[in-house]
Amino acid sequence: MLDAHAGSGGAALDAEPRVVLSARGLRRDFAGFVAVKNVDLDVRHARIHALIGPNGAGKTTVFNLLTKFLAPSAGRIEFMGRDITNAAPAKVARLGLVRSFQISATFPHLSVLDNVRVALQRPGGLGYQFWRSLSTLDLLTPRAEQLLETVGLHDERHKLAADLSYGRKRVLEIATTLALDPKVLLLDEPMAGMGHEDVGIVAEIIRGVARDRAVLMVEHNLKVVADLCDWITVLQRGEIIAAGDYATVSSDEQVKIAYMGTAYDD
Ligand SMILES: Nc1ncnc2c1ncn2[C@@H]1O[C@H](COP(=O)(O)OP(=O)(O)OP(=O)(O)O)[C@@H](O)[C@H]1O
Ligand SMILES: [Mg+2]
Repeated sequence: MLDAHAGSGGAALDAEPRVVLSARGLRRDFAGFVAVKNVDLDVRHARIHALIGPNGAGKTTVFNLLTKFLAPSAGRIEFMGRDITNAAPAKVARLGLVRSFQISATFPHLSVLDNVRVALQRPGGLGYQFWRSLSTLDLLTPRAEQLLETVGLHDERHKLAADLSYGRKRVLEIATTLALDPKVLLLDEPMAGMGHEDVGIVAEIIRGVARDRAVLMVEHNLKVVADLCDWITVLQRGEIIAAGDYATVSSDEQVKIAYMGTAYDD
């Protein structure tokens, strides 16, 4: 199904923020099993776009395709007007298409501050210069501290990442992805397993992040999706069954059936 948001003509649509990441006809087969099929997506600047759907719907696979961790079996991906269908993952990250992982991916035995400083010296940060001199790492401290301030982790900057609460680890993970200064941030279940308080904190961080960049997020908590996301694409068995704002997708019959009897209606 074609994403109704995808059209470029028409006066009303011209007012929409520009599309920074788009996919057309995305497909991925795994040994005869079609995990993703006919997926069209338009991710827009300064918008929060949710990708939702039952377990196994293909959400993470779509993320892997968009960030080039997996090669598509068919389809085309454009990022900032550039065809990245066959680009390498490191290249798309350098261009500003950055993801976090469903499983937390920070360095547990480094401090919170050092986790962010290490992230800052990756491509997109100051480059590979820090091995030349330890003091180069110090150059990154102000920016790292600023990022930690933004996400509310400044007071915990000298703790080991391992000693943070689960929710704060996820927040640190977001800070390390922000260190790469993404144009589009892809978040795979950023609130998974969090308590209410941390969900609220992360929602505010994401809202802040999306003021000057695009966010595409996989999220199971439909209340979060309703509150936070401007546009929702619903996947089921690898295919888009609905797309639109929350009111549109939540009243869609196919979506209601897809979600019936699942654990998502919290
Ligand atoms: N590397 C792989 N090899 C074979 N099958 C795979 C592979 N990766 C994913 N799949 C299958 O593709 C389908 C989609 O998986 P995917 O992880 O994208 O779903 P998801 O929507 O992210 O699910 P969840 O909500 O559980 O995270 C599943 O049936 C999964 O078993
Ligand atoms: Mg997944």
